[in-house]
Amino acid sequence: MMNIAVLVSGGGTNLQALIDAEKRGDIKNGKITCVISSNPNAYALERAKQNGIKTRVLVRKDYDDVHKYSADMRDALLEEKADLVVYAGFMTILDEQVVKAFPNKMMNVHPALIPSFCGKGFYGLHVHEAVLESGVKLTGATVHFVTEECDGGPIILQRAAEVKAGDTPETLQKRVMEECEWKILPQAVSLFCQGRIKINGKTTEII
Ligand code: GAR
Repeated sequence: MMNIAVLVSGGGTNLQALIDAEKRGDIKNGKITCVISSNPNAYALERAKQNGIKTRVLVRKDYDDVHKYSADMRDALLEEKADLVVYAGFMTILDEQVVKAFPNKMMNVHPALIPSFCGKGFYGLHVHEAVLESGVKLTGATVHFVTEECDGGPIILQRAAEVKAGDTPETLQKRVMEECEWKILPQAVSLFCQGRIKINGKTTEII
């Protein structure tokens, strides 16, 4: 059984999707053993507590320096014996110390179809604002491995959603979460825990 550590910063609806999937038996060979938040007021922490999952808080604002923050996060994840680290609405970019300690063992859910609308500055509602400004008719979500390049690691799963007339960033975010993120994140986690994701350079294959 793999130990899954989930990193969060906010509402935690993606964490909830993972918890619900685990309860349904849809996370094969994996268990959420720890939730770590960068924000002490994140509602995600409540969700974890309500489900009896261990929580830790590493407040990003307490650190001037991302390197010290990353070192402490790496140590916390090693202490938790994480086999998989899931960024589920985690809003801090960690440095290479963490990536090196967990090579191809960290995944992130991004609320757009990478390589569009991603990279530094594209997070949360900003992504959906940029999508609406661009005029694209399709958007979606991506689950990918975390590497040193922001939003640049091998793509595991993607799913598309329509942009509809009259959408606001909030309505679009809700559709992308419901139709895409909450589905593909638990799927990708389950595939990983079963050892079914093969990485070939920039690409992945589900076996
Ligand atoms: C989600 O849409 C997630 O994809 C996004 O923030 C939201 C968090 O919601 N993450 C990023 O933008 C990271 N680059 P949640 O806390 O309810 O899961």
